[in-house]
Amino acid sequence: MPQINYDELSFDDEDELKYPRPHRQGFDDVVDRAISRRGFLGGALAFGSGAAAMGLVTPGSAQAQQASRFAFDQLPPQTDATVHVPDGYRWDMLVRWGDPLFSDAPAFDASSGIPTAGSDRVFGENTDGMELFVVGDTELLVVNSEYVNGGVNLPADQEGQPASAEDVVRLQNFQGVSVMEVAEGDAGWEVVVDSPFNRRIHHRTEMQIDGPAAGHELLKTSADPSGTTALGTFNNCGSGRTPWGTYLTCEENFNGYFGTTVEPVLEEATAAGFARYGVSTEIDPGRYNYHGFDPRFDLSKEPNEPHRAGYIVEIDPADPTSTPIKRTALGRFKHENAASVVAPDGRVVVYMGDDERGEYMYKWVSRDVYTPGGDTTTLLSEGQLFVARFNDDMTGTWIALTPEDTGMSEAEIAIFTRMAASAVSATTMDRPEWIAVNPTSVEAYCCLTNNTKRGEKNEDGTLKTNAAGEPMALNAPNPRAVNQYGQIVRWRPHNGDHAAATFEWDLYVMAGNPTVYSEGLYAGTANINAGNLFNAPDGMQFDSAGLVWIQTDGNDDNEGDFLGMGNNQMLAGDPVSGEIRRFLTGPKGSEVTGLTWSADRRTMFVGIQHPAAPFPDGEGALPRSCIVTVKRLDNALVG
Ligand code: FEO
Ligand code: CA
Ligand code: CA
Ligand code: CA
Repeated sequence: MPQINYDELSFDDEDELKYPRPHRQGFDDVVDRAISRRGFLGGALAFGSGAAAMGLVTPGSAQAQQASRFAFDQLPPQTDATVHVPDGYRWDMLVRWGDPLFSDAPAFDASSGIPTAGSDRVFGENTDGMELFVVGDTELLVVNSEYVNGGVNLPADQEGQPASAEDVVRLQNFQGVSVMEVAEGDAGWEVVVDSPFNRRIHHRTEMQIDGPAAGHELLKTSADPSGTTALGTFNNCGSGRTPWGTYLTCEENFNGYFGTTVEPVLEEATAAGFARYGVSTEIDPGRYNYHGFDPRFDLSKEPNEPHRAGYIVEIDPADPTSTPIKRTALGRFKHENAASVVAPDGRVVVYMGDDERGEYMYKWVSRDVYTPGGDTTTLLSEGQLFVARFNDDMTGTWIALTPEDTGMSEAEIAIFTRMAASAVSATTMDRPEWIAVNPTSVEAYCCLTNNTKRGEKNEDGTLKTNAAGEPMALNAPNPRAVNQYGQIVRWRPHNGDHAAATFEWDLYVMAGNPTVYSEGLYAGTANINAGNLFNAPDGMQFDSAGLVWIQTDGNDDNEGDFLGMGNNQMLAGDPVSGEIRRFLTGPKGSEVTGLTWSADRRTMFVGIQHPAAPFPDGEGALPRSCIVTVKRLDNALVG
């Protein structure tokens, strides 16, 4: 059975990792239980008996003989510069960064990309979370563009840095959200250029601010003395969808867009917030240097501007004139995605991760109930935020972030959510990325992508901490020091109710490399084998049959500890048997992120972010992030 390798832990480390929890049992026993699916599922056999009937099994295939739920043979790892899918499937290009959404868009130049004029008329760069919506007879793909590569979007001699306000506008236009109609014709899927639904939302698009933080002093700026309207949504990473058909875009590393030209004079709360959220007050151009050309991003002039980013933003894709709404009730942190589900009593539950080392997992429960066809405009305005505490005994608690328990007002909890969570002793996690809710069983999963500082020490012998100064000791759901592979934690809410305050949890998988580590936690859990190696689980979605699709954003060197993993990839997992099988590989250098399905479930849309050249346009051309379609050759269901 897997054991902690105590050879790598000093006595001090061991002591720290066990303190201050009551030490009822050896930590190795805790880990053994965490990774034992028997203990968690209990009724797994009964649960699994209907799996073959539910699954996508090709009759007569080797998978059918094994009663596997996968309709494909495992794809071997790949290391080349293109996309691969299993035999019996095909992939095709749908849209690349810079492809037109409107016929008046400028043409993409293979060496210089898109000029500033018209840069808001094309599909954005660095595709990430996406969802498909059906509006009447129309299918709309709504897609995040997380960040921008200054190095390929600006003249080479500028070394990725804007040299003018016009350069800043160009970079801003390639980020945010693209709404685009897609349609399948004889030539396959295409973006419907000039569809009235097509829309670009970027770093200057007008937004409404809603919820407990709206109008607060900390949100007021010289351009918006009311603190209720903002311009732009930033670092749009993962996505979500509401039961009423709106898109949720999730602002992740928003801190990186702000800087200062002179040392700013800050209120105490503002300075503390900047420290916790990583907003730098050093005089430095940073990655984007927006502040060098646009005072809105200069902390010495507008110290409240960063308080207006870091939220979940709701967008109605069916109305291209609608104003996106920043839903501050759902908290401010480095939002990865937003997985929503309706509780038995009709309240809306939204699970969310804060993707930074040692930050937390959150849940939000609406005050009001969702009624299909009813008014949904204020459903995300009021509710209760909770943060997760995981116990070693495989139980967990959602701790409410209330004024009484945090000493903060409702508005302060919404703006400085991380500090509120620290006040109630939440569990530090190994970078929570996507959360996904199983539609066929009352459970949810979260990718904990990695945390190479977990259990590591500073020179003075103290443990490394998160941004709050909380030591990142090993804990049961994050049991590995120097966790370079990542794991997926899952939980089942008490009473089958996602709104419940308690849950049971286990680890669905710990990624690892059993060909390098013959035993111990770095070998991974039993559902990791030489055939399905991967690291850094990140994107995740369930299909309608209850298979969980896992996308990776990890080390693709394919050597050393990562030997045999190949390029980043997408795998499918069976929640019941635990089996995981590789389905798709991305081109060298890329992250595979973003997954959704066509209305008829015969096409998957898969995002390829930051590929290396020569993908997709060949040698000498700029590499371009893109969305590909994946279909079965017999056009059968793919999820
Ligand atoms: Fe943008 Fe945490 O991934
Ligand atoms: Ca991600
Ligand atoms: Ca990631
Ligand atoms: Ca990324």
